[in-house]
Amino acid sequence: MTINVGVIGAGIMGADHVNTLHRYVSGAAVSVVADVDVGKAASAAALAGARVTDDALALIADPRVDAVLIASHDDTHAELAIAAVRTGKPVLCEKPLAPTVAECRRVVSAEMESAAYGRPLISVGFMRRFDPGYQELRAALKAGACGTPLLLHCISRGVSSGPATTDEWIIVASAVHELDIVPWLLEAPIVEVSWHAPRSSPTVEGFRDPQFLLLRTGDGALTTVEVFLNARYGYDIRCEVVGDRGVLALAPPARVVRDLDAARSTAYAADWRPRFADAYRLELQAWIDALAAARPSPLPTARDSLITAMVAEAVIASMHADGRSVAVDAPSPESSVA
Ligand SMILES: NC(=O)c1ccc[n+]([C@@H]2O[C@H](COP(=O)([O-])OP(=O)(O)OC[C@H]3O[C@@H](n4cnc5c(N)ncnc54)[C@H](O)[C@@H]3O)[C@@H](O)[C@H]2O)c1
Repeated sequence: MTINVGVIGAGIMGADHVNTLHRYVSGAAVSVVADVDVGKAASAAALAGARVTDDALALIADPRVDAVLIASHDDTHAELAIAAVRTGKPVLCEKPLAPTVAECRRVVSAEMESAAYGRPLISVGFMRRFDPGYQELRAALKAGACGTPLLLHCISRGVSSGPATTDEWIIVASAVHELDIVPWLLEAPIVEVSWHAPRSSPTVEGFRDPQFLLLRTGDGALTTVEVFLNARYGYDIRCEVVGDRGVLALAPPARVVRDLDAARSTAYAADWRPRFADAYRLELQAWIDALAAARPSPLPTARDSLITAMVAEAVIASMHADGRSVAVDAPSPESSVA
């Protein structure tokens, strides 16, 4: 059985997902690609031999589309996800589900009202959950390998930020990966947050970079998060868990070590695509396999992502209150949230 996927948004991530679905995911075909910039849609679609449109709603309605992948800008996600669930089609929406809690609530309500509701239709692309390093780290934590987790240190550094970056966007669109992965690793919700920043890097203007978060989880562990978009030297994601018996950390993902000129070195990825290529592939394969077998998707749900958005809004509230601690009033994933 082949699942025909329609991909909305043919920018950096959309084109990457078309490529991954076409070349590396079994049981999937890309049938239609939509982008308001039809030239971008055409160049992404060419590889997969897919049809092209500039109209995302036409793609959603197209009978040649069994499932919808949304990779357009963050502020388009809610409307497109709602349109897709109203047709009863399953959706993989890139993170964040939407930039605000209010929009996420609307999406969760629309999903619950969908005639096809019985199991969640929406999956959200927090792909770190499929990264082999994070998976091994979670399994080791579950097995008690470092004893009781006391502290987590998460670092998320990039080479340079894109246009229109703001302090709040850094939380909603970048730090949000940490806000998803920390409760997933610890199996405990984030209950209190605070936002901090040192003096800003002299290379940036108009926003604070780096930013620093403290997250307290319901199990009593404390997490530090550094998000530094303009770290310049490479794309570098780190995670270390300090327990009462030992320390677990992600190993550097490089495959080749160079011994040259009296020095040893490994390379950094230039951005998230090579660093998380395995995670994107495994995430997409898991989504397609679940659809083909009519099983619940193993990806984060819209409801999970609503809770993550609530944590992000609490971080932004702390940012606007000089770093004051803010309690997170998020319900458990099982309770009614819409
Ligand atoms: N999971 C991850 O690691 C990860 C990494 C980067 C980006 N993202 C997310 O992926 C999404 C896309 O990011 P990107 O970096 O590819 O952005 P991008 O700007 O490169 O691409 C977005 C594309 O969407 C198109 N678009 C905008 N509105 C549209 C609409 N209504 N209908 C059809 N097309 C529309 C734009 O023309 C553009 O080509 C964002 O939500 C972003 O937050 C996720």
